[in-house]
Amino acid sequence: MKVFFNGRIVNSDSPTIKALDRGMTFGDGLYEVIKVVNGKFPFIKDHVGRLEKSSKFFKIKFEYNLDKIEAIAQELSSINKIESGELFLEITRGADTIRDHIFEKEYAPTFLEVVQPLRRIDANLWQTGAKLVTYPDMRHGLCEHKTIDLLPNVLAKNYAHSKGGYEALMFRTKNGEKYVTEGGSSSYIFFDGEKIVAPKIDNILPSITRSKVLSIARSMGFEVIERRVWLDEVQRMKEVMLLSTVSKVMPVVKIDDMNFSFGSVTKKLMTAFEEMISS
Ligand code: PDD
Repeated sequence: MKVFFNGRIVNSDSPTIKALDRGMTFGDGLYEVIKVVNGKFPFIKDHVGRLEKSSKFFKIKFEYNLDKIEAIAQELSSINKIESGELFLEITRGADTIRDHIFEKEYAPTFLEVVQPLRRIDANLWQTGAKLVTYPDMRHGLCEHKTIDLLPNVLAKNYAHSKGGYEALMFRTKNGEKYVTEGGSSSYIFFDGEKIVAPKIDNILPSITRSKVLSIARSMGFEVIERRVWLDEVQRMKEVMLLSTVSKVMPVVKIDDMNFSFGSVTKKLMTAFEEMISS
């Protein structure tokens, strides 16, 4: 497979990354995942905007812009003959001359762009619904940014897989009470029988899928409440939805031992979101 790496299209298995790249040594970088649908990149502007915002926050040089990124993505999608799949972007603070936590003043940031087939997701899950497994959220306080230091997310998702689940439902604890944050690589929203309830963006990723789905829900006339969602109220929810760029809107039918139905609200939002990304 061909990828774009620091200004050139190269084979994905060719040696390119410098040994002391801060992405390697410190997880000092950011990433994005964008859906590829029939050769188009839905919401690419939102994704690149999120990346730019975080690069400013962390003061990582970002030398690409939306037009450039989209042109490279189109080229990669045609070279690799991938009409539908996922586009991955990563920037890091470049390579150090000696490994040191302190940033060097002059550096060339690393930039990687990959168009790949969609990762392995069992297509039946969009019909039968996914199972989630609860897991403590052990991440840092910068989870509103899409940073590449994903070890707690990787552990959470692998734990869920080892228990037969599709994703983890992560939770944090406040005054002894557990509240829902997000998944290893997904967001969650709930239908409580009247309203759509979404965990408030408080040290969780402002998911682009979630913002699109919530705006669809509002336009359908649903009331949307963003607030802290406690784990012990989840069992009273009528419907649970998993959201992400790659999972789109996926029904959730089980969280640990709690069962949920794949109801009409989830069906409506799934259909409307499919229309939105394929239009
Ligand atoms: N993950 N929360 C986390 C922790 C995520 O990593 C993701 C996306 C989401 C959903 O965000 P969005 O709707 O913007 O894709 C929520 C991508 C798909 C990944 O890491 O592969």
